[in-house]
Amino acid sequence: MSKTRLSERIGRLDYPIRKYNALARSLEEKGEKVIYLNIGDPLKYDFTPPSELVEEACRALREGHHYYSPSEGLKELREAIAFKEKSWNGVQVDPKNVLVTNGVSEGINALYAALVNEGDEVLIPDPSYPLYINFADFYNAKKVFYRTLEEEGWRPDPDDIRRKITDKTRFIVINNPHNPTGAVYPEKTVKEILDIAAEHGLPVVSDEIYDALVFEGSFKSTAAVASEDNVVIGMNGFSKTFLVTGWRLGYIYLRGPEEKIADLRAALLGFLMTRLSAVTPLQVALARFAVKAPKHLEDLKRRLDERRRYTVRRLNEIPGVSLATSPAGAFYAFPRIDVDMDDEEFTKRLLLEEKVFVVYGSGFGPLGARHVRLVFLPPVQQLEEAFVRMERFMRRVAGS
Ligand SMILES: Cc1ncc(COP(=O)(O)O)c(C=O)c1O
Repeated sequence: MSKTRLSERIGRLDYPIRKYNALARSLEEKGEKVIYLNIGDPLKYDFTPPSELVEEACRALREGHHYYSPSEGLKELREAIAFKEKSWNGVQVDPKNVLVTNGVSEGINALYAALVNEGDEVLIPDPSYPLYINFADFYNAKKVFYRTLEEEGWRPDPDDIRRKITDKTRFIVINNPHNPTGAVYPEKTVKEILDIAAEHGLPVVSDEIYDALVFEGSFKSTAAVASEDNVVIGMNGFSKTFLVTGWRLGYIYLRGPEEKIADLRAALLGFLMTRLSAVTPLQVALARFAVKAPKHLEDLKRRLDERRRYTVRRLNEIPGVSLATSPAGAFYAFPRIDVDMDDEEFTKRLLLEEKVFVVYGSGFGPLGARHVRLVFLPPVQQLEEAFVRMERFMRRVAGS
């Protein structure tokens, strides 16, 4: 019997963060206690969404918002997003230039679908959040990594960006605060990248999903630093800062001269029409909640910061593990691992032998090699157990 033929493009997808999930589950089925430090989902630990937001969701369901909404998102939510961007980030955006997506994940898919042809190039950070790599592969675009500087808090190197622009480049991606390194970019660096982009007439895609989770330094939104002439495609969402990862809601906003963004808006909307709409009742809830002061953030940041400080201290105590700089934002640490095996092998063995699940750094780009990414989301007690196991593993492999 012949097998169903699959597309070539599907074979090019490889999502490192979930790749070893089945292995972790099989260990659990054998009664092992796996500590999951792989997925950036605060809801898997002891974080919960603001209760007022949950109430708004129940109310929206009771009120009967069960219909499809417009493909660009409910007007009320787009207005609330414009308000949120202004009050959180000082970004002025017209609600008509906001598109609601099923998470930033879908926004990234829409971006590539609308902007790249086969063989086009996209400039992405090395290391990078994997979806920016995955969708380049999926659409047969060429991913061109630009360097970030580990010793300087993983800040992007604008000169490397400049060097790598060709006439095939379609956009420059920045992700600030950054996944997987926790970098928060200096305003000067953001401005330098914007100036290079303007010189070459390229849009800057700025993924700011961790905008409110900054512990050191100061975050400046790309659109707030951009000049009149820049086109900024802002990517943001509710998963992390509103603690609703499972609601699958995010947004894209466009900022720049109308004549430069009109086609872009139409193209993105064209893609979003094919999935009809994002989930309506939860849009209603967020529209009502996002215009209020985000009171839950203070507690969220305080708890995360305690876990971050503990993680940085403990990681640096483990022989062979080092952080050149502390993560300044988001909820990831990206330590260097000095062992005699590659990072994917390291990750697999750490999971099999000590039941600690982290992500191999090379899954995020070439500069991620010899690193791993872990989340500092669990309570300190659980982190402590993970680091005891990791230390035992490091001592064992260093001695072998
Ligand atoms: C940088 C970055 N962008 C986008 C996403 C996707 O987020 P969502 O689809 O939940 O909005 C994530 C999730 O971890 C992320 O870290």
